[in-house]
Amino acid sequence: MNTIETMLSHRSVRKFKNQPIEESMLQQILKAACSGSTMGNMQLYSIIVTQDKEMMQKMAPFHFNQPIATNAPLMLTFCVDINRFYRYCEARDVVTDAYSNMHCYHWAITDTIIAAQNACVAAESLGLGLCYLGTIIFNTPDFIDVLNLPKHVIPLACVAIGYPDENMPLTDKLPVEALIHTNTYQDYSDERINELYKEKEAHPNTIALLKENNMENLAQVFTQRFKKEDNEYFASLMIQSLVKQGFMK
Ligand SMILES: Cc1cc2nc3c(=O)[nH]c(=O)nc-3n(C[C@H](O)[C@H](O)[C@H](O)COP(=O)(O)O)c2cc1C
Repeated sequence: MNTIETMLSHRSVRKFKNQPIEESMLQQILKAACSGSTMGNMQLYSIIVTQDKEMMQKMAPFHFNQPIATNAPLMLTFCVDINRFYRYCEARDVVTDAYSNMHCYHWAITDTIIAAQNACVAAESLGLGLCYLGTIIFNTPDFIDVLNLPKHVIPLACVAIGYPDENMPLTDKLPVEALIHTNTYQDYSDERINELYKEKEAHPNTIALLKENNMENLAQVFTQRFKKEDNEYFASLMIQSLVKQGFMK
């Protein structure tokens, strides 16, 4: 498969074979992750490699004990990291706090996500399966402690990787034109929304989900699953962490 075919075949994998990933494969994935575009070529991220099951068990409660938090042979946690660059400045007698703000945090977010997705494309092109764990940005203070992250380092993305032990069909997605705008943003009328969501709403996955949740539409399912009060609680933990790690006052 070429790269685009690999990307078009993407589906999240949540069941893995009990088979470790060869060291040479891991090194290729990490090299691909660290080869992407990065702001000013500063590489404002670090990647924490976890293969140790005990360490996965320690993190599992903060991932809300999702099975993929412990059932994959490899977990990569991608962290925004300005600490290493500050260490370099110190070592060269440059005194600065120029990057301790939300502007530069966003530089580092971009670098970190590019590295994470590069790792994912590399892993899938090697025949591995993976799933992101969004829970890494829910209990941020706990991950900072368990991963021993110094000031100016924050976990941002986490991916469980392994040999697939399931062959799921492609996940239904909105038609590409739903996401594309030409030159300027064209806001969506109700009519256009109906048109763009028609196929997704008629998809067997959606029908099964609505039945399981006894609900009428996906808007109800998602706003029930990710509730305002929960989102605001986890946002407050994130703000606490941004202050503690030196990105916000
Ligand atoms: C940022 C992010 C966080 C995610 N978090 C989780 C997660 O915590 N648990 C999970 O099972 N899947 C998680 N996923 C996988 C999504 O559910 C999945 O990508 C989406 O349903 C689309 O399906 P596909 O990846 O098969 O195309 C996450 C994906 C992303 C990009």
